[in-house]
Amino acid sequence: QGGQKSASGMQTVGKVAELDQKGFLQTESPAPIAVVRNPADPKSLLAVNPTCTHQGCLVAWKAERKAFECPCHGSAFAPDGSVQKGPATAALAKYEASIDGENVVVKL
Ligand code: FES
Repeated sequence: QGGQKSASGMQTVGKVAELDQKGFLQTESPAPIAVVRNPADPKSLLAVNPTCTHQGCLVAWKAERKAFECPCHGSAFAPDGSVQKGPATAALAKYEASIDGENVVVKL
């Protein structure tokens, strides 16, 4: 179901139901993308490239701390991708994400 490209350039990366069940969505295709609901405004979504800007490990969403954390050297990133804790110094790349019916779509 992933990877459908609509006229608007938005690509489906998963279902809203899956996002709400797991608390996040993560996919490698069509690109590395992690999507969470914005903790400050749960009606809106935040999407980042989960490739750590330190040395390229994949970060993981930690719902209890509302942060993306890197297993390699402990960097932490806010839901909007900004650095909370080093050694990483650059923010995660961000994507525009929204809900389209029952799908989560991201603009690549
Ligand atoms: Fe993520 Fe080093 S690769 S902290």
